[in-house]
Amino acid sequence: MVVSKIKTQAEIVDPEKTKPRAQLLLGGARMKKTTLLLCLGALVSLSHAQLSDPEEGEAEEHVDLFTTPTTKMAAATSDFGYNLFRQLAARDPQASVLLSPISISAALTQLSMGASTEAEKQLYRVLRYHTLHDSQLHDTLRDLLSAIRAPGKGLNSAARVCLEKRMRLKVGYFNEVEKQYGVRPKMLTGGARDLKEINEWVKQQTGSKVDRFLTTPIRRNIGVVPLGAAYFKGQWVTRFSQSGKRENFQVDGGAATQIPMMQQDSYPVKLGFDPDLGCTIAQVPMQGDISMIFFLPDDVTKNMSLIEESLTAEFVQDLSNQLHPVQVDLALPVLKLTYSTDLLPLLSDMGLSEWLAQTDLVKITAQAAKVNSVHHKVVMETAPEGSRYAGSATVSDGQTLPLIFHVNRPFVFLVRDEPSGALLFIGKVLNPRDLA
Ligand SMILES: *[C@@H]1O[C@H](CO)[C@@H](O)[C@H](O)[C@H]1NC(C)=O
Repeated sequence: MVVSKIKTQAEIVDPEKTKPRAQLLLGGARMKKTTLLLCLGALVSLSHAQLSDPEEGEAEEHVDLFTTPTTKMAAATSDFGYNLFRQLAARDPQASVLLSPISISAALTQLSMGASTEAEKQLYRVLRYHTLHDSQLHDTLRDLLSAIRAPGKGLNSAARVCLEKRMRLKVGYFNEVEKQYGVRPKMLTGGARDLKEINEWVKQQTGSKVDRFLTTPIRRNIGVVPLGAAYFKGQWVTRFSQSGKRENFQVDGGAATQIPMMQQDSYPVKLGFDPDLGCTIAQVPMQGDISMIFFLPDDVTKNMSLIEESLTAEFVQDLSNQLHPVQVDLALPVLKLTYSTDLLPLLSDMGLSEWLAQTDLVKITAQAAKVNSVHHKVVMETAPEGSRYAGSATVSDGQTLPLIFHVNRPFVFLVRDEPSGALLFIGKVLNPRDLA
């Protein structure tokens, strides 16, 4: 895949010195032309004339994006995730949200194994698999899931299909899913036991972190219930020396709320400023080749629509290549976030309404089978621990101004597996207390 990319050197004018101090990067992403600048704080004045060199602008460069089956699969699950996130964010623009979409990809893929060819095609389109041309699709997904769940990455996720027994189920489907994904679809008998068993299974799969997955007993005639759950607690590469101090988190249209923060000077991150999105973006490395990417708008705002709309696997991959390694005064909220929702209404908005009206799950049952909910519950935590200490205040690249990145107002974040590019978690936090 070719992404046209412009790299231009420019100068940041330092009132004290006259020599160039930093390189600014300009990049064009396919979906949306986006300019990334390394932002050295408000003190720096930029000359836009210096940033657009028409000759270099013609240069095109091949970017290695998603070249293996696993990374292509990761891109597909991520794009499904960004679409799901957009739908969820649009459902209530005033609400904080949190998702681990890959668990939903996994659950719906298990379901697709029971579908007719036509129904499978419809599901694949929404899951973004139609772009893959992968004859080993299930093996590829299984490999990706096993890679991102490796110990040391901090992710526990679970996906399963539950089916009502009275539908007269075909045992072949159960065996096939179990063989492929190591999890046997659950037969529901309709009663209090179902709730207890599902909740216990989810709890066990997530290291006891996702508790009370279902809160209301499953009705009879429940039909088909794909479910996904996840817990994430990663470890930073670089630890935070200060943690727990309560600081203001400014909320749009309300009083500031006090939340515990972790802070560290001279913290190594990758940083960029995107003037089109009006936000600064920081990628903070975690152990196990994971990173957390924060999109922090310049203003205190609930309106993240520009950021939400820009998110694609390719855009984020581009970002990851273009952000600039720097050391910053970093402050992040100490988070414990929980979120639970039924994603079924979103799936119909994403192009599955016809499919949901007539699911055509011929390999599961000869009867009409209705998907009744797609339950999703996720929990994630951040803590100050990390294996390394931050360096001293000496900074590289002639950077002399202290950069500040304090996540103390509404933000969007991603948790991403770097080797594959897979999106593990995505959230919009308007007020951390919304997700308590
Ligand atoms: C949010 O921001 C976008 C882009 O700036 C704007 O078009 C839209 O009207 C805003 N939405 C609301 C609800 O203010």
